[in-house]
Amino acid sequence: MTDIEQLLLSRIRDVADYPEPGVMFKDITPLLADPAAFGALTDALAEIAVRESATKVVGLEARGFILGAPVAVRAGVGFIPVRKAGKLPGATLSQAYDLEYGSAEIEIHAEALTADDRVLIVDDVLATGGTAEASLELIRRAGARVAGVAVLMELSFLGGRPRLETSLAGAPLESLLTV
Ligand code: PRP
Repeated sequence: MTDIEQLLLSRIRDVADYPEPGVMFKDITPLLADPAAFGALTDALAEIAVRESATKVVGLEARGFILGAPVAVRAGVGFIPVRKAGKLPGATLSQAYDLEYGSAEIEIHAEALTADDRVLIVDDVLATGGTAEASLELIRRAGARVAGVAVLMELSFLGGRPRLETSLAGAPLESLLTV
């Protein structure tokens, strides 16, 4: 394990039985509270955005906003939010999806992306891959290309990576930590 991986891992807190029994929640708030760790995470994700020539970072509500916004600024590209249904004021595209616990619907502003955009999706955790899969669909429907998906942590036992294979169509899925 590299020094950065060790630093990031040491700042993620496991919370048992949250938000419901049997779920081990990965709490990133200690990482966000540590400027060295948060800075290293931002740098690592921004490096991926630059490497993949991303023109936009799409962050997934809510923790994907916290990570994605500084990554976009660091990479010198715009930030576009994918929000839970009913939160965006303009015309939207919507996509329903299943979560690790429950189900939801997410939206993007229909005019947020153009055919010239290459989009890097940023989020904290890839679990079942449902949220990322729905977001990839939204990006395609919005007419943009996919530069990749970059997450802090992949919970490999939940099968997100194989689930995303078709939607990624060869674009990279980068996880800084794999559990
Ligand atoms: C969590 C996490 C990812 C998603 C991963 O978000 O931040 O967005 O679930 O799960 P999946 O791969 O199974 O789709 P959540 O929906 O809990 O929203 P929050 O960030 O607003 O708490």
